[in-house]
Formats: sequence, C-alpha cells, structure tokens
Amino acid sequence: MAEHPTSPSPVELSSHLREEIDHWVARFPPERRRSAVIGALHAAQHENGGFLTRELMEAVAAYLGLPAIQVFEVAAFYSMFETKPVGRHSISVCTNISCMLCGGERILAHLEKRLGIKVGESTPDGRFYLKQEEECLAACTGAPMMMVDHRYYENLTPARVDEILDAVAANDGTGEH
Ligand code: FES
Repeated sequence: MAEHPTSPSPVELSSHLREEIDHWVARFPPERRRSAVIGALHAAQHENGGFLTRELMEAVAAYLGLPAIQVFEVAAFYSMFETKPVGRHSISVCTNISCMLCGGERILAHLEKRLGIKVGESTPDGRFYLKQEEECLAACTGAPMMMVDHRYYENLTPARVDEILDAVAANDGTGEH
C-alpha cells in the first residue's frame, strides 16, 4: 500500500488509480519507489483520457512520496507520455524505408482520410491522436506497420487499419468512430 500524499494536491486520484499505482509500487523494493513512476504515469494517463496534466503529475508524485520534478522528468523524457491534451488513442505510423516500400505512406494517407485529420492532430471527438510518422520501429519484417497505444500492428492494409480502429473504438464502449 502506498503512503499517503505528503502535500496537498488540487487533483484527487481515483481509488482505481491509487490501486494501479499501489500495484506498481509493490513490484519494487521500498527504497525504489521511483521505479514505479512509469507504470503510475501510464495508468494516470490512461484514466485521464490519453494525456497528463501538471496537476495530475503532481498528485502522482505526492502519492508516491517523490518530488514532483522527478515525475515531470519521466513524463518529458518518454515519448509514450503526452503532456498536452490529445486524443485518447495515440497512433504512430512508420514511414521509414521498409515500411515506405511496402505502402506505409498509403497507410498514413488512409488514416488521415478516415480520421479526417493530419499528422499531429486529434479527432474532434477526442478519441484518436495521429501522433507522428515514425522512424524505423524495428518491425521491418512486418512492414508496413503502425503503433496504436504503443502496441504494434504489422502487415497493414487499409482494410486491416479499419478493423483495428473499429476494435479500438468498440473497446471504448460505444462502438462509434
Ligand atoms: S522501416 Fe518500418 S519498422 Fe522498420
């Protein structure tokens, strides 16, 4: 069980999020609470709809009993964390050489058309964030590929992309996209 916050925070962590953080804390020795920051931020970002706010990071730091700066540093360092409002599901498409030769740019164009946004933008409903074109993600044998919420999807076709996005949207509970 994590210790109580050491300082007041304007954001109250939900009981579910506190449980998630406790889970990560329990995986490391007591003197290594800092090791739980990545897992804690991941859970916080997920619960907050795909991005972190300063207040949320401060609350996570307080719950972990760490200086806020240590949590800010982790959030700033790892590309998996978003510190500005973006769509809940992050999509990155590889357009490096192997993927490009196998149709990666066609996949990107299909995503932009389907979602009605360009790279760097989020859908108006806040569901998808077409984050970026990626350099090689070391999955060339499965080219073309993309990441959705940091999970790899390979051997893509436009139809397969549609299936993946439909499944992601369905998991959100409404089935809309
Ligand atoms: S070029 Fe796309 S994964 Fe390597």
